[in-house]
Amino acid sequence: MIKALSVALLLAFELGGATAQTAPAPAPAMPGIQSQNIADVKPEGSQDPAYATQTNGERSKVQPGNNAPVWREVNSGKAGFSSLPVTQAPEAGVLIQPFVQYPGSSLTNAGDAWRQVRNNWLIPYGGSLLLIVLGAIALFHFTVGPLKVKEELTGRKIERFSYFERAAHWANVAAFLALAVSGLVMAFGKFFILPVIGTTLFGWLTYVLKNVHNFAGPLFAVSLLVVIVTFMRDNLPAKGDLNWLLRGGGLFSGHEIDSARYNAGEKVVFWGGVFFLGLIVVVSGLALNKLLPGLSYDRSTMQIAHMVHSVSNLLMLVMFMGHIYLGTLGTKGALEGMRTGYVDETWAEQHHKLWYDDIKAGRIPAQRTRVANASAHTGKPVQA
Ligand code: HEM
Repeated sequence: MIKALSVALLLAFELGGATAQTAPAPAPAMPGIQSQNIADVKPEGSQDPAYATQTNGERSKVQPGNNAPVWREVNSGKAGFSSLPVTQAPEAGVLIQPFVQYPGSSLTNAGDAWRQVRNNWLIPYGGSLLLIVLGAIALFHFTVGPLKVKEELTGRKIERFSYFERAAHWANVAAFLALAVSGLVMAFGKFFILPVIGTTLFGWLTYVLKNVHNFAGPLFAVSLLVVIVTFMRDNLPAKGDLNWLLRGGGLFSGHEIDSARYNAGEKVVFWGGVFFLGLIVVVSGLALNKLLPGLSYDRSTMQIAHMVHSVSNLLMLVMFMGHIYLGTLGTKGALEGMRTGYVDETWAEQHHKLWYDDIKAGRIPAQRTRVANASAHTGKPVQA
């Protein structure tokens, strides 16, 4: 995977370099390409020494219908004429990106290099990574098993998430799920959906999902910022986090390490997955949507944005697969907290002992949301 990432990034920088020398850069010689171009092969018996440099007009006189010179010109990366405004389509006059030579590889078209990175690296290695993580989670579930509440439930509830926190979280989840499903189908659908439903339906499906993806992206961006601001304070690093991480939270020993409102594992997901990767995913996604002001939306920009978007998305997905598992099947009672806003005292004591102690000692209110009758929300009395 590391090799895959480094090659992708290397190519990203190379493509960046290609931007700097966009048309009308001197057309590089294309020996490999021309020798393979059957249409540009001198007909048998032809004595013309200037055959290879003929214009299209000259060529059509000796070989009517042979327009190889046009494609030689197109492949050179030299800008032609286009009625599209340059501000909106900076490379509109260039039909095919200039040829570039990457270290250790043959002369290739930058667009084809990007396609190869996508098809030969991102898709197979990214897909394998997702399957491996899915398998590891399943293995954990069926061997170690989910975290259960060990003591009897008291029936006394503590408010874990306010209305606002839950609304921010679930709005973000809705956008995330729309993006994840549409993104995964666009990337991997041709392997497992296309053979089942055929090209016409798959064409329509990906067309619809691409639009879903484009619209859900900005919604995710806004809700992600709200989530970051809302949950940041209690995710700040604290004493004991390192110990929690070093001992894996006690996940395998069966004795959970004490933690505050969020444990160090949740904090890693917050800072690594939500904050760092989330922001990279959003910025690269907005670039792909052409929504970042001041950026020149030429091909190499889009290719770099696509590769950054794909890699950061795959890593973010991996982190969220862990988060979703622990938030649903992996920790009994966690989903109830995010769904209703309340958790049982026993749950709080077992999973977030320091937070529970603070509530018991009155340092944190057990009920933060102002409600006329707290028991109306839980059906149970709220106690500190
Ligand atoms: C199907 C998807 C998801 C499910 C089922 C889910 C479930 C949960 C649950 C049950 C909790 C409460 C954990 C606790 O009480 O400690 C939680 C917390 C949280 N979730 Fe999710 N979640 C999902 C997706 C997401 C996504 C996409 C994001 C952000 C991009 C996110 C960000 C958070 C944050 C910031 C918290 C607060 C705890 C922390 O900072 O780690 N979740 N989630």
